[in-house]
Amino acid sequence: MPTKKHVPVLLEQTLRLLRIKEDGLYVDATFGRGGHSSEILKRLSPQGQLIVIDRDPEAIDAARALSNNDARVSAVAGAFADLGDLLDSIDVPSGSIDGMLFDLGVSSPQLDDAHRGFSFMRDGPLDMRMDPDNGQSVAEWISQVTERELVTVIARLGEEKFSRRIARAIVARRSTAAFETTADLASVVDAAVPFKEPGRHPATKTFQALRMYINDELGQLERVLPVAVDRLAAGGRLVVISFHSLEDRIVKRFFRDASRGDPHPPDMPVRADELNPDVRKIGKLVRPTIAETEDNPRARSSRLRCVEKIGGEACVQ
Ligand SMILES: C[S@@+](CC[C@H](N)C(=O)[O-])C[C@H]1O[C@@H](n2cnc3c(N)ncnc32)[C@H](O)[C@@H]1O
Repeated sequence: MPTKKHVPVLLEQTLRLLRIKEDGLYVDATFGRGGHSSEILKRLSPQGQLIVIDRDPEAIDAARALSNNDARVSAVAGAFADLGDLLDSIDVPSGSIDGMLFDLGVSSPQLDDAHRGFSFMRDGPLDMRMDPDNGQSVAEWISQVTERELVTVIARLGEEKFSRRIARAIVARRSTAAFETTADLASVVDAAVPFKEPGRHPATKTFQALRMYINDELGQLERVLPVAVDRLAAGGRLVVISFHSLEDRIVKRFFRDASRGDPHPPDMPVRADELNPDVRKIGKLVRPTIAETEDNPRARSSRLRCVEKIGGEACVQ
């Protein structure tokens, strides 16, 4: 089956909030297939620069192809939790970035390519790593994880109410034969789920949970946010698009705390200028329009938040 094109989510809102300066320095920390990047590039002059990062080797191949044809682009392979080291590796000074984008989760090509092992719809090896050269595959992890841990992961990251039944079925089945393929796991989950939600495959939530766990998606996000703010220039903007309520909660709390400034005892009066916040919040939570969701079902659960590093010009949207 041909791989579907990745349609960038919340594109117009992202570009408006990034407020691109034509000679600026930007980072797209989740390049994917460059949907957002190509629009950023259209707004940059020959002096502008765009650093693109991805941990997926196929995404990085696409990024390198772009950088070979466009001197403004630098492609860097790696996980964004290592943002500081990745930027140091190409000599980007601290506090120099005018805008940074994180469009979290997986891309359509990752989901659509059966060989990557993300899909319960297309059979492939049970892998789900964005970077297949690092860490354990789902097949390896699932072969030795305790039932209890499996319940916790499926319940928390999948918000799956049948996590116990699913975990029990997985552990029972692996005692007779190891899981090797996505179809194999999907059929065991399907059989364990007593009520099927119309229009949704019964393995959807379990696959999401395993993918998020195996790629440490929440840990990556928690680690990168302070570094991202640190690396912004004064007035630079950070835009994060998340797809899971736990991701959005991490972003929301971090932005809230960073915009509040230094902690102080509740009974001690302090002036606003003594609080020393790192950022200010720009606008409210952005959700996709009904039209965008109809055109691009992947946008359905997207949520965008933006902050600006303090020290720039007055906040203009
Ligand atoms: C939703 S897609 C981005 C799509 C992109 N904005 C576009 O329009 O083509 C997310 C991409 O981020 C990458 N990614 C996810 N988490 C990452 C991480 N922690 N470090 C580096 N890349 C990551 C994935 O491999 C995937 O290619």
